[in-house]
Formats: sequence, structure tokens, C-alpha cells
Amino acid sequence: MNLYEIKGVYKSYNNKAKSRVYAVYNIDLTIKKGEVLGIVGESGCGKSTLGKMLLKLEQPTQGRIIFNQQDITDYSFKQMRKIRSGMQMIFQGTANAFNPYFTVEQIISEPLNNYSREAKELKEKKIVEMLERVGLNKTYLTRYGQEMSGGQRQRVGIARALILNPEFVVCDEAVSSIDYALKNQILQLLTDLKQQFGFTYLFISHDLASVNKICDRVVVMYLGNIVEIIPHINYQVQHPYTKALLAATLIPDPHQRERKRVLFREGEDLKIPKSGCVFQNRCLYTQSICQTEQPALMSKSGEHYIACHLCHNY
Ligand SMILES: Nc1ncnc2c1ncn2[C@@H]1O[C@H](COP(=O)(O)OP(=O)(O)OP(=O)(O)O)[C@@H](O)[C@H]1O
Ligand SMILES: [Mg+2]
Repeated sequence: MNLYEIKGVYKSYNNKAKSRVYAVYNIDLTIKKGEVLGIVGESGCGKSTLGKMLLKLEQPTQGRIIFNQQDITDYSFKQMRKIRSGMQMIFQGTANAFNPYFTVEQIISEPLNNYSREAKELKEKKIVEMLERVGLNKTYLTRYGQEMSGGQRQRVGIARALILNPEFVVCDEAVSSIDYALKNQILQLLTDLKQQFGFTYLFISHDLASVNKICDRVVVMYLGNIVEIIPHINYQVQHPYTKALLAATLIPDPHQRERKRVLFREGEDLKIPKSGCVFQNRCLYTQSICQTEQPALMSKSGEHYIACHLCHNY
């Protein structure tokens, strides 16, 4: 069963120079009920934009988004309200996003007050239980955002997102600012909830170790496009971009990393080529067909999909 079907979805913005830039470009993807789908790719490739469109926090420029067999693409705010309690996003950098005048209790109880009519005592009990599950405790209830570390605030954000038992959660760099032992505890919490309730997650992360631990499938994005979908991160990847991405992450020396010319550098404004493969300008194996025809995302075997002319022919 599919929880989401994403069909031909684009998202473009007008940049300062009044030209169109695509954050997400013609994405077709299904998310199965109960899976953890990882999204990896360099900064600016469109991961957060895709996650936000699934929750309708951003409106697609083109394409359809089907959730639980309902086409929600044109749903109004009011129509979304009915299903929104079942979908949550743990925002990237949540750490700084809380209202500074709110205590932890107020922050976490906000979704409960919006969507649940339970008695006050029951809500409080739930909040304390959730705090404990993310490695905090009831002494945090009265604290304000600025009285906590970044990692502690991040965990409050996770508790807030999970308090309503959402069926679908977009975890956008959710565990990146949390240290190792706690990170594992939270990944375990996500896994437990998935097993217990059949929750589905979109897990966006630069941290391949976490992706490896939790994800059932991994989508690799480059400049708004999906270039490869792999069953897990240790899979024998084939796309030249995925290979470079994984190799760069495994090289500890940042100077060595910079020398990997195939990868995108921070601040560089890359444009999607007018025709052909999205990766042609950086690829070490570009052939003439790569400049004229865009390779389709095709199944290579089972759950392995790839968009590369070279790989299609092997
Ligand atoms: N509101 C906006 N207006 C204009 N451009 C935007 C807007 N939001 C995103 N973009 C552009 O869309 C592209 C994709 O952004 P997005 O935040 O989805 O990337 P990302 O993969 O999440 O990156 P990161 O890993 O740094 O979080 C970027 O080039 C970004 O500059
Ligand atoms: Mg992002």
C-alpha cells in the first residue's frame, strides 16, 4: 500500500534576477505505508522543499500529490486541517524556531490543544512520557527555549512532532545536532513507533550513518532531480553522482573532499541544463547522448532505480 504517490512534481521560485529556478524538478516517487524513506543529496538539492510539499507547507508549481488515495494537491487550508494532525514535520534547525516566551510544556502541548480534547491531566502525563522517550524529563517542563542547548531544543521539537502519534513524519535533519548515544536512542524511538503503529517517515539527512541505521530505501537527489533510488546506503550504487557523494562523505580530510570536483560546492549556483542529464556538467563519463536526452529513472533490479544512460546500458 502506498501512503504517498508523487506524480510529476515541480517547484520553482523566481530568484533575485527574476529568472526561474527549480528547487524540485519532475519528481515521481511513491512512499509505502510503514517505510522509512531516506533522502540524501548536497545542500540546495531540494530535499526540504520536497518534504514541505508533501505536508502542503509549500504548494507544488506543477504535478499531483496523492495521500492515502486522496489527491490533496489543491486542498484548502481547511480541508488539510482534517488530515494534518496525522502528518508532522521535524524542522531543520527547529532549535531556534520556538517562541522564546513559551515553556517546553507550552511548546509540546500546542498540537495537543489544537487537535485533542483529552483532560488536562492526561495531556500532562503524555507530555512527560514523551519527554522521557527523547531523553529529557519533567524538570524541563518549565524551561524556556533559550535555557536549553541546541540538542535539547531539537529533542523538544521531536517530542512536539510525535505527541499526536502522527501517521507520517518528515524528519528534516532531525538528529543531526544530537550527540551519538542520544541519537541512537531517538533513532530507536522512531523505529519502535514505526513497528508499534506502522508509522511512515521521510528521513532527510546528511548523516549517512543514521540513514544506514533507520532507512528502508534511500533516494538520492541532485539539483531537484532523483538520480538514484537504492534499497539501502551500503548497496552497490551505480550512479556517478551517488558514488562521488558517498566517497566524499567517507573522506575525513576536508581538503581532500574539496578536490572531488564532481561535487557541488557551497555557494555555487548551479543551473539545471536545458537538455539532457542533470549531472552532465560534473560527470566524468559524459557522452553525447547525455547532453541531448534526459535519462529516465528506470528500475535496474527490484528496488534499485537509476537515471543514467551509461548505467542503463550495463
Ligand atoms: N522560498 C524560496 N525562495 C527562493 N528559492 C528557494 C526558496 N526555498 C528554497 N529555495 C531554493 O531551492 C533550492 C532547494 O532548497 P532546499 O531548502 O529544498 O534544499 P535542501 O536540499 O533542503 O538543502 P540543505 O541540505 O541545505 O537543507 C535551493 O537552491 C534554494 O535556494
Ligand atoms: Mg534542507
